[in-house]
Amino acid sequence: MQYNFDEIIDRRNTDSLKYDFAKEREKPEEILPLWVADMDFKTPACVIDALVDKSQHGIFGYSETKRDYFEVLQHWFSSRFHWKIQPEWLVKTPGVVYAISTAIRALTAKGDAVLVQQPVYYPFSRSVLVNQRKLAVNQLIYSQGKYRIDFEDLEEKVIKNHVKLFILCSPHNPVGRVWTREELIRLGDICLKHGVIVISDEIHADFTYQGYRHLVFADVKPEFSKIAVTCTAPSKTFNLAGLQISNIFIASGDIRSKFRQEIARSGYSQMNTMGIAACRAAYAKGGEWLAQLKEYLAGNLNFLSGFLQEKLPSIRLVEPEGTYLAWLDCSGLGLDSQKLEDLIVNRAQLWLDSGTMFGAGGEGFQRVNIACPRIILQQALIQLEDAVKSL
Ligand SMILES: Cc1ncc(COP(=O)(O)O)c(C=O)c1O
Repeated sequence: MQYNFDEIIDRRNTDSLKYDFAKEREKPEEILPLWVADMDFKTPACVIDALVDKSQHGIFGYSETKRDYFEVLQHWFSSRFHWKIQPEWLVKTPGVVYAISTAIRALTAKGDAVLVQQPVYYPFSRSVLVNQRKLAVNQLIYSQGKYRIDFEDLEEKVIKNHVKLFILCSPHNPVGRVWTREELIRLGDICLKHGVIVISDEIHADFTYQGYRHLVFADVKPEFSKIAVTCTAPSKTFNLAGLQISNIFIASGDIRSKFRQEIARSGYSQMNTMGIAACRAAYAKGGEWLAQLKEYLAGNLNFLSGFLQEKLPSIRLVEPEGTYLAWLDCSGLGLDSQKLEDLIVNRAQLWLDSGTMFGAGGEGFQRVNIACPRIILQQALIQLEDAVKSL
């Protein structure tokens, strides 16, 4: 079956956070949204069929999963990442951010330091601060259009702040890095040495571009599995964010038991019935759809890159190795944050994610979600080009 990712599906008036809340978020009503990380593509037919079956059954009582659900996950992670998960490691949560926030409470005390690598997905720092923990920042180094880890600073920050927990974003949103084995070993070794637990948010793991391979942090060295909380979900991969299902894997019995206790404290128990059905169907039968989607996204990335080079040379694409989020270096426009925001929102009528939201190192950048029909991406770029010309 050939999937048609060029199809434009009207998402307005569907309770879509991306499309229906411009006014509430103080944006112009006709703005073109390429911000929040969900896709403008329909989930694969196998998932829709599973959800229709559930709907037609008509009873949405409490649900649990059995061995078959685990086996589907097991097959997915072993065939794609050579990662062998064990049934007892699995803890299901209603989302990865929920899991991160829960892990922060479970594994640290108020006032403890939690480390993140900015610029990074902003709910990381929000979860740290809202739980009254201290935020420690290891800023990524941006040089010659590429990001790398400042390992000396990482270790220094860990020691200085007595960091208890590190939230790793792998692949990294927004800078698009797919961390190499060497990088993961180096940062994991620092964490091992100083007794730091690692939450590895691998929600974007299925999106790597040609030439890059995602490695599960917990699996890079046997010792890492003892300090890792690996966060996975089918939500980015299959566009299921609204179904709120994620699968967290924790090999350490001690860490897992603390994590489970914190979930119990929050009053949460069974998963969303529809989420379970969708997750199982997606991982069991969605492989071919994903392969075609990845080709389409690579085409979008290529289109974006070509357009910028040809028509907007003052904006530089930080070439992503993974994720469907593109990080644009707009510093060449010579605008301060406010003027850049005005250019994007008011002149270009585009709703992107402003770099400043991602913390240190985000100034002068914008994040664009390229998981949309190419014609929408083209429209967005034409609007951006016109806006830049009008400066
Ligand atoms: C790195 C990262 N983690 C987590 C999430 C959100 O996960 P969830 O919707 O499961 O809370 C996103 C969504 O953009 C993300 O980019």
